[in-house]
Amino acid sequence: MTSGNFKIGVLVSGRGTNLQAIIDTIENGELNARIAVVLSNKKDALALERARKKGIETVFLDPRQYAGKKEFDRALARELEARQVDLVCLAGYMRILGPEFIRKFEGKVINIHPSLLPAFPGLDVQQQALDYGVKFSGCTVHFVNEEVDAGPVILQAVVPVHPSDNAETLAERILIQEHLIYPRAIQMIVENRLHIENRKVSYKESVSQ
Ligand code: GAR
Repeated sequence: MTSGNFKIGVLVSGRGTNLQAIIDTIENGELNARIAVVLSNKKDALALERARKKGIETVFLDPRQYAGKKEFDRALARELEARQVDLVCLAGYMRILGPEFIRKFEGKVINIHPSLLPAFPGLDVQQQALDYGVKFSGCTVHFVNEEVDAGPVILQAVVPVHPSDNAETLAERILIQEHLIYPRAIQMIVENRLHIENRKVSYKESVSQ
């Protein structure tokens, strides 16, 4: 694949610092991909603003305009299919994608999660980590399957938990690592370097670009 021909659709709901990291890594030449569209279920998501600033197409889909989750997911799928994206990246997208969507984009949806999965799936995960008393936490890039936060792990990064941490300080430390490993994981997919067997992801040498 020629550099920059690999098309990504990014799904967001919030401030979009991971989206920004993807944009910045494309701009500095370390990620050979193009963001075809940024889709949000929140009209005021700062992430949309970040995309517009860079001239990236944005689409807001209002969940209230659809009869249910299935119909919303179908609309989302239509937007992504219309742009023939090669990969769907969830970047702070706070809705659960239904099985129909996941099957349609099988093996082509990835997510970043702010814990070392399988520890602390779900929401408020930094607080979960603090309440449990773990000494290390981190973040995980994984393929998305039909179970929440449970798909094959692509990359993880570890950060220490300090005795003085609260959920915000821990989240900030984890976020720094998120911004490094998410674009890196995408680049590995662009380079076709991932092999999955029995849910285990292994890394190959670059075979095609
Ligand atoms: C990130 O910490 C991301 O890992 C998390 O939401 C934040 C989004 O920040 N995602 C999840 O918790 C998904 N379950 P961002 O909008 O600044 O990228």
